[in-house]
Amino acid sequence: MSASNELTGQVALVTGGASGIGAACARLLAAHGATVVIGDVQDDLGTAVAAEIGAPCSFRTLDVAREPSWTTVMDDTLARFGRLDILVNNAGIAGSGTIEDTTIQMWERTHAINLDGVFLGCKFAIAAMKRTGPGKPAPKGAIVNISSIAGIVGAAGPCAYTASKGAVRLLTKSVAQHCADKRYGIRCNSIHPGGIDTPIFNPLWQRVGRAPGKALIDAIHPIGHMGEPDDIAQAVLYLATDRARFVTGAELIADGGITSGIQRRTFGGAL
Ligand SMILES: NC(=O)c1ccc[n+]([C@@H]2O[C@H](COP(=O)([O-])OP(=O)(O)OC[C@H]3O[C@@H](n4cnc5c(N)ncnc54)[C@H](O)[C@@H]3O)[C@@H](O)[C@H]2O)c1
Repeated sequence: MSASNELTGQVALVTGGASGIGAACARLLAAHGATVVIGDVQDDLGTAVAAEIGAPCSFRTLDVAREPSWTTVMDDTLARFGRLDILVNNAGIAGSGTIEDTTIQMWERTHAINLDGVFLGCKFAIAAMKRTGPGKPAPKGAIVNISSIAGIVGAAGPCAYTASKGAVRLLTKSVAQHCADKRYGIRCNSIHPGGIDTPIFNPLWQRVGRAPGKALIDAIHPIGHMGEPDDIAQAVLYLATDRARFVTGAELIADGGITSGIQRRTFGGAL
């Protein structure tokens, strides 16, 4: 899709925007006219991504697991731009561990970032999106939460990750219901990516090598390959725009077909 100006005048905050899917979202939203704030704990990388995108994109340090960090970034965003229209709750960590070998520390760390971070983001975004003013006469906005296919189906290995992403899926629907009930004009949807080629896979690449590791991940996608960060950014763009004005509380699966059924090739073509 070529760039448009359909988000001109709108302000977007992308958490975890220093890398991978978040950086792709920041690039695409900016290309479509949005003023973008990247919030991340990776200061150097986030600053570099913002510089590469150019004005009006900027970086702010944001630890999504910490409420005071949200207060700082949201106050700063509203002071600079006077509004927030789009929040992409994308920051997240992976990590492996079954129910038997996940420690309470791993569990709490994963949920602090992947779930508490989204909870705080939704709370702060709704408060900001309710603000009205010139050019924004009524509460309005779009929140997009990046869950995972691990929030749709269970996986034994990433126990804490799966639980956190499943909770994001239903938190999204609760937020959507609340905002609809209040007639806020704020929509909230979740996206469920399959395997996307980002640094989140670095631990696997380091263990088994990038080429053999990627071949393994490619093979579990019926479409034949893993996705690119822009594949998810395009879904975020859709949900962020008024083209999705009737879509709220929805889950958009972008997984190359993983969760849609049983792969024929798994059964040697017998099915
Ligand atoms: N890559 C995939 O295959 C895949 C699949 C499904 C879902 N996801 C989800 O997509 C999102 C983005 O992941 P990615 O693949 O781009 O990984 P990534 O590691 O490239 O990016 C994640 C970003 O989140 C940031 N982050 C981590 N903790 C943070 C915190 N406390 N506060 C603010 N920022 C923090 C990191 O610094 C990093 O920039 C995550 O929520 C992830 O769970 C990814």
